[in-house]
Order: sequence, then C-alpha cells, then structure tokens
Amino acid sequence: MIVVTTPTGQIGRQVLDHLLDAPDGTTDIRVIARDPERLSLRVREHVEVVRGSHADPAVLEEACEGADRLFWLVPPAPQADSVEGHFQAFTEPLCETIARHGLEHVVSVSTLGRTVAKNAGQISASLAMDEAIMATGVHYRALCPPFLMENLLGQAASIRDAGVFFLSMTEDRVLRTCATRDIAATAARLLLDESWTEQHDVPLVGPDDLSPGGMADVVSEVLNRPVRAQLISSSQYRAAALRHGVSEAWALALADMTDALNEQGFYGADAPSTPESAPTHFREWCEEVLKPAVLG
Ligand SMILES: NC(=O)c1ccc[n+]([C@@H]2O[C@H](COP(=O)([O-])OP(=O)(O)OC[C@H]3O[C@@H](n4cnc5c(N)ncnc54)[C@H](OP(=O)(O)O)[C@@H]3O)[C@@H](O)[C@H]2O)c1
Repeated sequence: MIVVTTPTGQIGRQVLDHLLDAPDGTTDIRVIARDPERLSLRVREHVEVVRGSHADPAVLEEACEGADRLFWLVPPAPQADSVEGHFQAFTEPLCETIARHGLEHVVSVSTLGRTVAKNAGQISASLAMDEAIMATGVHYRALCPPFLMENLLGQAASIRDAGVFFLSMTEDRVLRTCATRDIAATAARLLLDESWTEQHDVPLVGPDDLSPGGMADVVSEVLNRPVRAQLISSSQYRAAALRHGVSEAWALALADMTDALNEQGFYGADAPSTPESAPTHFREWCEEVLKPAVLG
C-alpha cells in the first residue's frame, strides 16, 4: 500500500497519475486529502481516500495503517506564523507514525542545499525536516530540486500584460531549475520500487545553465514577444510578499532564503545537472506549460 500526501497539489497530483498509470496496476493506493471533492473522478474511483490534513496525527495514523510506502510533501503555507513551526507540525506526527506503523520507504520533496544552506528560510526548514525523518531510521529518499520552473506560472499575467517576470537575485548568474514533472516521475519510480534501502538525497537538477536573462530570452522566443527578467533584492521580495498577504514570518523567511541563495550559491552553476532524473529543458517546459498558461 502506497500513501500519497498532497494529491491535489501540482507535484502530488502528477505522482498519483504515474502510480495509476503503472503497467502492473496492482499496487493499492491511499491518499490524504482535505477536500476529496478536488480529486478527479479517475482518482476517486481507483484509490482509497482519507479525509483531512497530514499534519493531523489521527489522520496520518489512519492513512498509514497497513501501508509500507509514503509520498511525503509539506505544503507551502504563506500564512504560517512560523516557518520552522509549520514544518515541525507536519514532521513530528510523521516521525511518531513511522515509529508506530510498519512504514518502510518514505519519498519526500525537499531541496538542494544540504550541508551548505545556512539561515535559508524555507530551505533550512525543509532540510531540518529530512534530518528528523532520517533519525527514525526509515528507508528514505529526499528529492532535492533547485528553483521550480512552475514558480513562473504565478507570474503568467505579468509576463502576458507587461512582458516581465521578477526573480529575487542580486546578479544575472546561473539559476538551476527543475520541472515538477521530473520530481513526480522520480517519486513514482521510487515508490514503485521496493528494493532500495538506506537514506540518500536525490538531486533533481535540470539540464539548463541559464541565468534570469537567459531564461527571459527563451521565454521571449517561445512566446514570440519581448519578455525581460527583473531582478529584485530580498527586501523588495519581502515587501512584495507582504503586499500579497503573506505572513511576516513567511515573508522574512523568503528574504532569508534569497540572501542565502545569493551568498551561498547552492542553486547556482556549481550544482551539477542530473539529466537522467531531471531531463526537462526549460525551453520544452516553456513550450508545453508556460505558453498555454500565458496565452491561454
Ligand atoms: N518553489 C520552489 O522553487 C521549490 C524549490 C525546492 C523545493 N520546493 C518544495 O516543493 C514543494 C511544492 O509543492 P507543490 O508545488 O506540489 O505545492 P502546491 O501545488 O501548492 O500543493 C500544495 C498541496 O498541499 C495541500 N495542502 C495545502 N495546505 C495543506 C494543509 N495545511 N494540510 C494538508 N494539505 C495541505 C494542497 O491541497 P488542498 O488545498 O487541496 O487541501 C495541495 O495538495 C514544497 O514542499 C516546497 O518546499 C519548492
């Protein structure tokens, strides 16, 4: 039995599609969903659904009863009072559940930056989550992407209407990227394979070495209209997040993350590409995902 968290999210939804498409199709799947109505009909017909949040210990216990494999993702929480507290609120019940139930394999979405990232906001909280889960001794794979290409989807209107997208960086240097489709495909492959053991990071770094300016050139070519990248400082990013209703704590953590990325460079040129696990090129993603989102 495989348990899937965040089955309505952009990564979890794709993980679930891969599991349902698996050739032998015999694996039992259970999902945890706050609102099962948001699941597709196909999903509701083929999986068991436990209603609730995976931060709720009772919900997690119920979902993991009799399960041996888990897809784990701590959702973004822009309203959280504390970023560390948010990650801990999910991770502590998980560690208790692992200790009580027979979960053998956990595949989680985390981030690049292990051993390097310091005071890096959401990134530090995610890496601390991995440490806590690994301390249980469960067989564990932390999927470690850099900047998600899908982050640009939130700026589709700005790209369409003003020909600009914003990135919080101090200079136009390489920003490694990953498409969520590659995270989902890797997660599903690991969830369907019961042979792996121990605890490792799985870096998921796309094949490109583009700077924001290079990304803007690709977006311009794909959309056949001029688009530029506007770099903003961490304090500008924090102010913009606050204007959009993000909590003080989440906005401050975004600024810390930006400063850490600028100063420590772990999403940069030194992160080697992993084309075997993250094959999607930025141009391909722009053609297939960004273009329809921008142009409708
Ligand atoms: N952005 C980046 O560049 C970057 C880089 C590295 C790693 N990451 C990681 O990538 C992940 C992003 O995941 P995603 O894109 O799939 O997120 P997403 O599309 O925002 O999906 C969030 C999911 O979580 C569910 N959810 C939200 N709040 C919840 C709560 N309180 N309790 C239970 N479920 C809740 C949502 O379901 P409902 O609303 O339907 O309940 C939805 O299924 C994060 O873990 C992030 O740390 C991001």
